[in-house]
Amino acid sequence: MAAASDIANGPDTSDTDTDTDPDPTARRPGGSDAAEATQLEIFREIQAFHADAAKRRADGTPASSDPELDFPPYRSSVLRHPHRPAVTAPEAFVELAGPVFGDADVSELDADLTHQHIGEPLGERIIVTGRVLDRAGRPVRGQLVEIWQANAAGRYAHRRDRHPAPLDPNFTGAGRCLTDSEGRYRFVTIKPGAYPWRNHRNAWRPAHIHFSFFGTAFTQRLVTQMYFPRDPLFPLDPIYNSITDEDARGRLVAAYDHDRTTAEWALGYNWDVVLDGPAATRLEQDQH
Ligand SMILES: [Fe+2]
Repeated sequence: MAAASDIANGPDTSDTDTDTDPDPTARRPGGSDAAEATQLEIFREIQAFHADAAKRRADGTPASSDPELDFPPYRSSVLRHPHRPAVTAPEAFVELAGPVFGDADVSELDADLTHQHIGEPLGERIIVTGRVLDRAGRPVRGQLVEIWQANAAGRYAHRRDRHPAPLDPNFTGAGRCLTDSEGRYRFVTIKPGAYPWRNHRNAWRPAHIHFSFFGTAFTQRLVTQMYFPRDPLFPLDPIYNSITDEDARGRLVAAYDHDRTTAEWALGYNWDVVLDGPAATRLEQDQH
């Protein structure tokens, strides 16, 4: 998992470790070079992968609602996915050495991404809220929730983002809050734009907001992405589709909520998150 401050977006050409995977292209259904693959080829690879997953489920393999860590349509995952089992860190050490925070570290203003500068950012003002629940449906209170996102034009305020879309001097795109007694978080922000990336030719990420749920120790942290309903880019996006289970993918999509919409002010979206159990919101495998 990446840190909230470690926004990795746009092209990533840092994959140079081929020691454990000498010819990843040979395993791609289309066999195309990453930069040369068309959207249609990627779409067909996704469909083929999903069809295989459905067949395995039909043959009795338990359905997984986690993302595939090695998902060839998402090109960099071929080289970047873990090749060895995870190492369990000693709990006491993690709790002593991990970052800590308290109520005093998070102010109410941190949850309003439209009031972090002198002027207001451009774009469609939205309210994003939801409840953080455990597997039994109980609220997770006092949970540190962090978000980061692109601006309305689809550009991050980050040195690695080279998308030739305008930066907004009134929008940084990062916020945080603590869940209340009902496990609810709430942000006021700007609806992010879609942005291009270099997974394949003419690749675009659906609009999304990155979320981090801190947990009670650093190793419990959940990092994932929230999407907006009925995005036309869903079937084309390899990251979204790295979860082969359709229901699990759907749990990454917020619902438009007119009760959360504020008259003359902002549209409302609701997105509940379950931290573990069968209905859990899945971890993403990477940050884009
Ligand atoms: Fe992103």
